Parts: sequence; structure tokens; C-alpha cells
Amino acid sequence: EKGGYEHFMLKEIYEQPSAIVDTYRGRMLVDKGMVRMAGMDDNIERFVNAKRILIVACGTSWHAGLVAEYIFEDFARVPVEVEYASEFRYRNPIIDENDVVIAISQSGETADTMAAIKLAKSKGAFVFGVCNVVGSSISRETHAGAYTHAGPEIGVASTKAFTTQITVLSLMALKLAKAKGNMSNTDFHYHLQELDLIPGKIKKALEANEHIKEVAKKYMNAANFLYLGRGFNFPVALEGALKLKEISYIHAEGYPAAEMKHGPIALIDENMPVVVIATKKGHYEKVVSNIQEIKSREARIIGIVTEGDTDVRSMSDYVIEVPDTVEAFTPLLTTIPLQLLSYHIAVMLGKNVDQPRNLAKSVTVE
Ligand code: F6R
Repeated sequence: EKGGYEHFMLKEIYEQPSAIVDTYRGRMLVDKGMVRMAGMDDNIERFVNAKRILIVACGTSWHAGLVAEYIFEDFARVPVEVEYASEFRYRNPIIDENDVVIAISQSGETADTMAAIKLAKSKGAFVFGVCNVVGSSISRETHAGAYTHAGPEIGVASTKAFTTQITVLSLMALKLAKAKGNMSNTDFHYHLQELDLIPGKIKKALEANEHIKEVAKKYMNAANFLYLGRGFNFPVALEGALKLKEISYIHAEGYPAAEMKHGPIALIDENMPVVVIATKKGHYEKVVSNIQEIKSREARIIGIVTEGDTDVRSMSDYVIEVPDTVEAFTPLLTTIPLQLLSYHIAVMLGKNVDQPRNLAKSVTVE
């Protein structure tokens, strides 16, 4: 049932290329230059007229929501807020019928996310679900939705659910951008073509596995890790840190790279591995200068870079390459080495990767 893999987590990491194809199959029509998604098509006015999009979720799904915030605002020019469902539900939020709420949940059973949905509905908001488990409670409670079609995710640490959530949310953002006239046809088409190339590029990123094992071996005994990213890859830094924490029990924190100098840089010494997502896009130059700042404090740098990069390589102890793509889709690639790094560290430390202590696959209590 693990299909020859040692753990479900590893199997699910390797399933991502085909899971993403399953997510966009029948929805992304590259030749026709369109995105078809029944849950959105049937409610397109609600989306087009939305004054704001509010995303509610927990854990890794919340990180997918943060990536979506960057993508929706960039493509569709609609204000987006991302909330922890557990905070949203208890803070008397300002929300009304002009809001579209997107609830993201792999299991579709998370108690806090469910409560947030009920609250949003009681205020008149339109609620759209992005779930993986078909027929789950959240998929039934929402007004409309889109399944991720990632297939069953057994490993407690979420992997393919995350990348397929980002895929669905990217399709939604593209569709909304088109419906609102915020993206030219050429640009729209270009993004569809780029998304279509992502599964193949993930396969390529997975080829770094043996090299990532070496990196894992080198740093498996570190007491702390930092993960840094900016822009679309800031949430990926948070997700990388969460993956390491939950399965290896090593303390890790994710930060926006530029926040380092506002405090956390004090933590840095030669024992601190710092994973920096530094793809050659958007904020590349800024990230390079952030790396210089921490390098001068002796940190060990593990750079996640675009194929062929030389600048970050020259400053790093290790680099892990991912293929090039448009900036908005880089999280789909930069996530892959971070999943593998935490997986190998946890295995080398002898931890129970698929069922880490204290964690359950679906959190049905608040
Ligand atoms: C992390 C993880 C959790 C879940 C969170 C939300 O790897 O699995 O953080 O992401 O409990 O679960 P869902 O998406 O089922 O609502």
C-alpha cells in the first residue's frame, strides 16, 4: 500500500507530479485558454463583486492560504486576508455579504475551520471550500467548492495536500483575474502553460533527493533551524519549518528574510543552519543581501536556488536547485526540497515519520 516506499510521507511527496495533474485535469484547458471550475462558474458574480476575500484555515492549509494571498492579490487585484480559523471564530470579526470566504482543509473535518465557516455564513458571506476528502463535513457545509483530488493523504505531515491546494487556488485566482479583466489574454495563457509544466518540474526537483540526504546528514543534529523566504516564498519558509518541527521534533522557525535584523539575527551562530529560499525571481537581490547579513554572523547557509544559480551558491554551504518558473508558481517547486529535507532528517533521527507524537491526521476538537 506504500507502493514500495518506506513511508507514506515519502510516497506522497513523490506523488505530487501526478496529484497536481489530477487537480487541474478537466479544469485547466490550456488549448482553449480557459479555466473551468463548476463551483466558481456557478457563482462567478459573487467572486467578481467581492470586496474582499477572506481565507480561513489551520496549519499547513493556512500556509497554502498565505501563498494564495500573494497570488490572488497579484493576479486578480482583490484584497485578501488570511486568518487562523481558531482566531477568526472568537474575535467578533467584521464580515458581511460582500465577502467571499475560502475555507481550506485537507481532511474537511477540522473543528476550528468548520466553526469559522458557520460564523461567516451567519453573517451572510459566501463560503467556498477547498477540501481534499470528498463528502467531508466542510465540503458539505460550504456553499460551493473545489476538491483538490490529491488522493488519500495518510502521512500526518501534509505534503501533496499543500501543493494541490496551491494549484486549485492558483486556478481560482487566474479565473477571477480573467473574469475581472485584470490579466491580458496573453498573460493568462502564459500562466496556464507554465502551470502545465509544473508537474514535470517537480519531477526534476525530486531528482535532488540523494543530495538532500547529504544535507540532512550534515545538519540532523542541529538543535534549531531557521527558514527564510520573501514574497510568494515567505509562506513556504513557514511551511518548511512546520514540516521539520512536526516530524523531527527539531525546533524551527520560519521568518520573512528581511525581519531577521529586527531580532532573530541575535540567534545566529555557527551552529545554526539557515535554509534560505532564494529563487532567481522577484526579490532575488534583496534575498542575496539578507544572506550576506546572516553569513557575516557565521550561519550555515542552505540555499534553495534556481537551476544554474551562481551568486547564492558562492555564499552557501549547500545549495539545492529547483527548475525555473514564473514567480507565482515558485512555491510549488521550492516546497519539494523542504519536504524531503525534513523527511530525511526525521528518518535519520529514528522518528516515526508517518505518525509523529501528539499529532492526529484530522483535528476534530478545538
Ligand atoms: C501539518 C498538518 C496540519 C494540518 C492542519 C489542518 O502537516 O498536517 O497542520 O494542516 O491540522 O488540517 P486540515 O487541512 O485537514 O484542515
